[in-house]
Amino acid sequence: MTRRFNFCAGPAALPQPVLEIARDDMLDWHGTGLSLMEMSHRSPEVVGVAQAAEQSLRRLLSIPDDYAVLFMQGGASTQFASVPLNLAADGGAVEYVNTGQWSKKAIAEAKRYADVNVVASSEDTNFSTIPAFTNWDVRSGSHYLHYTPNETIGGVEFFWTPDVAMPLVADMSSTILSRPIDISNFGVIYAGAQKNIGPAGLTLVIVRRDLLGQASDLCPAMLNWKVADENDSMYNTPPTFALYLAGLVFKWLEDQGGLPAMEILNRRKAEKLYAAIDSSDFYANPVELESRSLMNVPFTLADADLDKAFLQQAEAAGLLNLKGHRSVGGMRASIYNAVSEDAVDALISFMRDFEASNG
Ligand SMILES: Cc1ncc(COP(=O)(O)O)c(C=O)c1O
Repeated sequence: MTRRFNFCAGPAALPQPVLEIARDDMLDWHGTGLSLMEMSHRSPEVVGVAQAAEQSLRRLLSIPDDYAVLFMQGGASTQFASVPLNLAADGGAVEYVNTGQWSKKAIAEAKRYADVNVVASSEDTNFSTIPAFTNWDVRSGSHYLHYTPNETIGGVEFFWTPDVAMPLVADMSSTILSRPIDISNFGVIYAGAQKNIGPAGLTLVIVRRDLLGQASDLCPAMLNWKVADENDSMYNTPPTFALYLAGLVFKWLEDQGGLPAMEILNRRKAEKLYAAIDSSDFYANPVELESRSLMNVPFTLADADLDKAFLQQAEAAGLLNLKGHRSVGGMRASIYNAVSEDAVDALISFMRDFEASNG
């Protein structure tokens, strides 16, 4: 069996040791004679797996006790609606920052439920920058301020946290667990699982408890954070296998030394890839230096006619899923936690060889 290097933006690479445990557990989970997938979500086995996953995540992120951890469904995209439905029941004022394609989707959805003000936008720089905080036009008294700390498509990341006098809501889909964060700065954090958490089908929501119980009457029970909290994230049948795999990923992260260790590794991986791009006239990354994402590295070739050959030859060299998002073109290497430094080294070496043959 040859495992190849996977740079997909999501669903993304999973740690091989996690896949091996899942393989070994598949037919007979811990001597029960059943796969975990075949067990009731109310069984002590599955409830135990869910509780262990939550505890592991709480340790990794140092989540304070006054925050609920919810495992929901529908992806981060469903949270685009859940956020206003849970926090702006009166359809009143909410603030959004527009730093890219995912911000735009969150804004479009929130407009259906609330009075959205876009406090700042980097669209004028083609989303290659983050608008300076001093220029944000925040209305006081709004229900919350929403932003996207890492834009998966544009490869733009915040390395600072907006300091506002209202609950801060963050779509952390593509940055969660890549480095330590201070949860107490946030009212709500949500993330689709399929990058740094586990397989698709699970959505993580971390919410400060005082923000529960304010949902609109029209908020579907399945999107209501209080309902999820009161039912231990089992109001309906949860995606049990995805939850089990996420638990294995959290355990793997703890075994690696937790998020401080991941940050060191992730910075090293990103720095060498950006250095390789910057040291050549053949490759380019458009993002301002201080906002370059640690997780998603878009880059272009000097001659776009070579894109196809680049992708074909990369694939032949065992480097998969480097095609940029359809909205921006070019290439994108997503280098999440489970993408090893060896994978990044192999990519850099391939890029040098490709430049030498085509530059
Ligand atoms: C930052 C960000 N937000 C939201 C989404 C949408 O997530 P989902 O597919 O889980 O709805 C993505 C998916 O890539 C993302 O990267």
